[in-house]
Amino acid sequence: MQKSTIGVIGPGRAGSALGRSLHAAGYIIAAIGGRNPDNVRALATELGARPCQSPATTIDVADLTIVAVPDDVIAPLASEMAGALCSAAGKAAVHLSGAQDRAALKPLAQQGSLRIGVFHPLQTFRRGAAAAENVAGTYFGIDADGPLREQLAQMATDLQGHAFDLSHVDHARYHAAAVFAANYPTLLLAEAIDLAVQAGLDRETARRGMTTLLAGAVNNLKDLAPAEAITGPAARGDDGTIRRHLEALKHDPQLQRIYQLLADRTKRLAQPSKEDAA
Ligand SMILES: NC(=O)c1ccc[n+]([C@@H]2O[C@H](COP(=O)([O-])OP(=O)(O)OC[C@H]3O[C@@H](n4cnc5c(N)ncnc54)[C@H](OP(=O)(O)O)[C@@H]3O)[C@@H](O)[C@H]2O)c1
Repeated sequence: MQKSTIGVIGPGRAGSALGRSLHAAGYIIAAIGGRNPDNVRALATELGARPCQSPATTIDVADLTIVAVPDDVIAPLASEMAGALCSAAGKAAVHLSGAQDRAALKPLAQQGSLRIGVFHPLQTFRRGAAAAENVAGTYFGIDADGPLREQLAQMATDLQGHAFDLSHVDHARYHAAAVFAANYPTLLLAEAIDLAVQAGLDRETARRGMTTLLAGAVNNLKDLAPAEAITGPAARGDDGTIRRHLEALKHDPQLQRIYQLLADRTKRLAQPSKEDAA
């Protein structure tokens, strides 16, 4: 299958990670579009692409355009671009959001005859060049039909990732799951570091120690189910320790409540039979 030329609108975290990785995988990055001319020019120069100040021009230049803008911008931008296209026949556009289906790009299909879809990397990307390090191995959720679906599955493979079907999935619930997997553990780590500092550790020791602890938990999860992998007082049934923790969190009632809720859910995960009997 011949590789499509790629356009990226939004050279932010996800757009630049995918742009760089597709470039490294042998795709021609034909155009970069966006809002901030400096960011557009920087990524375009790096990838040998044409910088486009108007997002619609990106679609005119590339075969497949990746709309890598914030979720709430996708639909309004698609409407805006649909009215400004020159040559869109035979082209395609996808967005990267896990929370929305392909209908967010509908104006491009209705007014520009583009094939539309979703290419959701089930991954977390930071700012800058290091973001591309997370691409290999990623699972990509695909919501598209026919040849575009095959093309996106091939693109996932070319990125050394794995394609899966998102077309009949409840997108909001699926994306909430992704937020639980990647975003809230990061929030909980931030709370853990602050708490360790309040307890008397210096911040750098707290950061390194707690991050290594989290990495150990993730490592155990690679070949164990969560119910087998989870450790700690709630999983063991050490209620005295849980009481001491709740006492130590009295100064922050919201965090104390989060701890209590998580302890209850942890007991349910680790000791389902006891919870059922209770
Ligand atoms: N980051 C992740 O880990 C991740 C993972 C999976 C999926 N996604 C999805 O990827 C998409 C982008 O997220 P992100 O995290 O990469 O966001 P981001 O880092 O904030 O980047 C957003 C990009 O969109 C541009 N932009 C914003 N408003 C625009 C507009 N009105 N017109 C044109 N360009 C505009 C921004 O330009 P400026 O720089 O000028 O503001 C920036 O280049 C979202 O749909 C998100 O759900 C992200």
